[in-house]
Amino acid sequence: MRYIALLTLVLVALFAYKQAETYPLVEAKAGQSSVLNNNLLGLPPVPIPANNPQSPDKIALGDKLFHDKRLSVDGTVSCANCHNETRAFTDGLPVSVGHHGLTGTRNAPTVLNAAYNSSQFWDGREPDLEGQAKQPLINPVEHGLADHKQVIDIIRADPEYLARFKSVFKVDAKKLTIDHVAKAIASFERTLVTGNSPFDRYYFQGRTDAMTAAQIRGFQLFIGQGRCVSCHTIEQDRALFTDGRFHNIGIGINKVQQDIPRLVQAFLEAKTKGDNVDAMVLTDKKTSELGRFAVTDELRQIGAFKTPTLRNVELTGPYMHDGSLKTLKEVMIHYNNGGVNDAKDPVNDFLSGGIRPLNLTDPQLDDLVAFMSALNSSRINYPTSAQAAN
Ligand code: HEC
Ligand code: HEC
Repeated sequence: MRYIALLTLVLVALFAYKQAETYPLVEAKAGQSSVLNNNLLGLPPVPIPANNPQSPDKIALGDKLFHDKRLSVDGTVSCANCHNETRAFTDGLPVSVGHHGLTGTRNAPTVLNAAYNSSQFWDGREPDLEGQAKQPLINPVEHGLADHKQVIDIIRADPEYLARFKSVFKVDAKKLTIDHVAKAIASFERTLVTGNSPFDRYYFQGRTDAMTAAQIRGFQLFIGQGRCVSCHTIEQDRALFTDGRFHNIGIGINKVQQDIPRLVQAFLEAKTKGDNVDAMVLTDKKTSELGRFAVTDELRQIGAFKTPTLRNVELTGPYMHDGSLKTLKEVMIHYNNGGVNDAKDPVNDFLSGGIRPLNLTDPQLDDLVAFMSALNSSRINYPTSAQAAN
């Protein structure tokens, strides 16, 4: 009897391991709503809002919208321009480039695992994926459309789109709104999840051979002397590597120190007038540096940005909200200096209390960098079917 129980256990473990190993990454889309209860090691189930349940057709529609360049002022910009699957859903640029080569002020974060974010954008100004998806379409330096009516007009002109919206949402052309568009895109994004990295196999499956010696040393620093885990969180059964909170870790802010009183005043005035805040932070470099303050109006949150996930971070450079750090080594040096790029620079007035000099040696910084590469998910580099449609 004991042997049978043991055998069953081994088989179950083997099966779970196999599942985790072979689970398709970004291909998990149409027809695979099981992705909701994903078996990806290190990740919880994807939260799905009650008013936007997943369905294979909706996910496929969102996929098409995500890759559709027609939804832009000059027909050249789709979401995938800046969130490109071949670059782990980023664009590899310091700050993003929209229509007619216009540049924004911020680095494109990955969309992978954005389904778990407790708020969207570097400053968290949108609560969810649905709210987020509406913004780039009418952002003057991204898709550049004048308003959401233009988005709907483009969709209404395409009978195939109309048929698909009708079958997914039961709406006809007249009743179609931007909310339907946003819901479809968000559903697609909820399938873009990655886990099962060497770190996950090491930490959650106890496979000591899953990480190299340098990666293991880096992990020890990450949870120890580096205090990284206080913001890039790891829990008992999951690791999202973000606390979902906002911290000023000394990026970009030193450049605008003198301008802060003026920027704060101008921003609050514009907000009171009802100006488009999304446009302001993505078109004015200095205003962008106000960070979370732009959402909460709280002075102590000046220069605070959302803790990003570190999954696949080796593939998503350059780094930070302004793309100012090119390599992971530069990131580690910044932390080791206690929140300044150059150890001789003064720290800014709003720096998080959690950022202090770490006194790590150069080989220790290299170990931290090595640990970052243990967070790559398998198969992340492979182009997907969605890529072919691009
Ligand atoms: C021109 C480049 C560009 C285009 C086009 C673009 N984005 Fe982004 N995306 C960005 C940048 C830059 C940010 C960060 C902006 C900020 O935080 O203020 C961002 C942020 C996001 C986030 C938030 C992720 C996080 O971790 O907070 C999501 C989700 C997202 N974009 C999805 C989309 C979708 C969906 C579309 C198409 C409707 C789209 N993006 C079009 C550049 C782009
Ligand atoms: C006080 C909270 C906090 C601590 C502690 C912290 N981080 Fe961060 N981390 C952040 C925030 C916030 C950002 C984004 C900052 C910005 O862009 O202004 C960030 C960004 C990063 C990035 C860039 C990610 C990207 O996609 O651009 C890496 C890599 C990183 N942190 C690794 C680490 C490591 C390694 C440690 C420990 C040595 C650490 N962090 C400690 C909050 C923290």
